[in-house]
Amino acid sequence: TDRYAVFGHPIAHSKSPLIHAAFARQTGQDMTYEAILAPLDGFAASVAAFAAAGGRGANVTVPFKEQAYQLADRLTPRAQRAGAVNTLKFEAGGTLGDNTDGAGLVADLTRNLKRTLAGKRILLLGAGGAARGAIEPLLDQNPAALVVANRTVSRAEELAALFGRGVVASGFDGLDTPFDLVVNATAASLAGELPPLSPALFTADTLAYDMMYGRDTPFLDFARRHGAATADGLGMLVEQAAEAFLLWRGMRPDTAPVIASLRAA
Ligand code: ATR
Repeated sequence: TDRYAVFGHPIAHSKSPLIHAAFARQTGQDMTYEAILAPLDGFAASVAAFAAAGGRGANVTVPFKEQAYQLADRLTPRAQRAGAVNTLKFEAGGTLGDNTDGAGLVADLTRNLKRTLAGKRILLLGAGGAARGAIEPLLDQNPAALVVANRTVSRAEELAALFGRGVVASGFDGLDTPFDLVVNATAASLAGELPPLSPALFTADTLAYDMMYGRDTPFLDFARRHGAATADGLGMLVEQAAEAFLLWRGMRPDTAPVIASLRAA
């Protein structure tokens, strides 16, 4: 039996053990997946102990993704550009760090929500780790425009400079033309807050996507009231897990039944 785990602080409410157990059942993989609460000052030691005890891989969540990036011996290109790691694979030659969050977002948008991103105008709200991880996978879809808007404009400018090729930095002020996709990657939803957005961003053709899941957010409510279609981040959560499972086990599980059962619960 191969062992996997998710490390975070807090971790009790993580849905990852449930998701990976469902993937393992579906694909007949002989594996376990547990949630591990790492001490705030003991992430690296906690991961090292798990690997030494035979762990094969791990997911990493808040607040350890940057530390996981530092800890990895090798990084995939997408983890390199995200500046953060959410998936570790313990290999003979050392620890591989990957980041499947952005690929999970794009998979949810394109596979589950059936949106085409090529030629579309995309607005990404936020300039923290969650936003940064989404930029490269979104750019790979060849949108007509990718605007990164943040409360602190200088952070959006730093991301635009980092990625170059067509990322436009902005504040929230003066953003008042419609977008095909608006992704909320700010932490505002966690606090039950709404970034100061213009209603003019949204039309009946807009998809408003909140990376948060589990409850309706002021952002989704605002977008819906201005005519947009909406989606929360539950699909992204399951899709990033499927990408991690693929890295570890060499097969991508069918995510639809897992998303459906989490929705029903
Ligand atoms: P994460 O790794 O989750 O992205 P982070 O690096 O702390 O976390 O970034 C949080 C993001 O949410 C930032 O873009 C932050 O804006 P600032 O850079 O201006 O701080 C944004 N954010 C947090 N609370 C917000 C709020 N109430 N309204 C708008 N943006 C908010």
